[in-house]
Amino acid sequence: MSQVILTESQGRVGLIRIHRPEAMNALNDAVMDGLSAALDQFEANPDIACVVLTGIEKAFAAGADIAAMRNLDFAQAYSSDFISRNWERLLTFRKPVIAAVSGYALGGGCELAMMCDMVFAAENARFGQPEIKIGTLPGAGGTQRLPRAVGKALAMDLCMTGRFMDAQEALRAGLVSRVLPADKLLEEALAVAQAISNQSLPALMMLKESVNRAYESPLSEGLKFERRMLHASFSLQDQKEGMNAFVEKRTPNFTHK
Ligand code: HXC
Repeated sequence: MSQVILTESQGRVGLIRIHRPEAMNALNDAVMDGLSAALDQFEANPDIACVVLTGIEKAFAAGADIAAMRNLDFAQAYSSDFISRNWERLLTFRKPVIAAVSGYALGGGCELAMMCDMVFAAENARFGQPEIKIGTLPGAGGTQRLPRAVGKALAMDLCMTGRFMDAQEALRAGLVSRVLPADKLLEEALAVAQAISNQSLPALMMLKESVNRAYESPLSEGLKFERRMLHASFSLQDQKEGMNAFVEKRTPNFTHK
């Protein structure tokens, strides 16, 4: 595992830290390959049920590494499948992921946060898609996920001006679900992840797939998918345990089956 990605486990929670402080956590191949490998590891581990992805205090990630990509030409970008090759592992990761964002989440950093299932922001967090200021445009979902998260007008405003949005504006806009004091961010994200990880893992995975369907399909299709997932959940031992525990007024003991 590369040193720019640090991992640890805490109970059923996997913690992934992006650690490239000398470059504001700019996302180069070492970071993205390391992140993919860390996700592979946590996906394969049945004892991990939820992941927290975080950065350093000053930056979740200040974007794709500008120095590393500035001389790319079309042929190189296309042939090497730039971005697609190693940026999309989060999209296929099936367990819940919380982004804990402190400092800058810009460009590819903001796009990475938006690939997570929920985003918690420290009060010092700054979100933005400033690619226009360096003569290009968002390329890892910024023009697609940002309007879905915050609406077209604000997405256009952020992408066209390149301005940064603070944590409170991100909360109002619906990009983040919680704003926390910087020194409580990781503690809170880990506590929420721990609570989530005590739920039934297969039910969580079905839930994640269903919410993601809402993004990808018309309402009627999404509703059909949700209904089938609900039906399928009745085959889980955890569904029987959860409902029996409620009726018997006790805490459920999920076995993740
Ligand atoms: C490479 C970066 C970087 C980046 C910061 N650094 N962001 N290196 N790529 N995206 C480096 C700086 O060059 C500097 O290195 C060090 O990190 C500290 O940054 P400073 O600029 O000195 O810090 P500060 O003045 O506090 O400003 C912080 C900042 C600024 C506001 C985050 O660094 C900035 O604007 N960064 C670029 C943000 C950006 O444009 N992101 C979008 C990238 S394009 P040295 O060696 O000088 O100390 C993108 C495209 C996505 O993401 C498309 C598909 C993925």
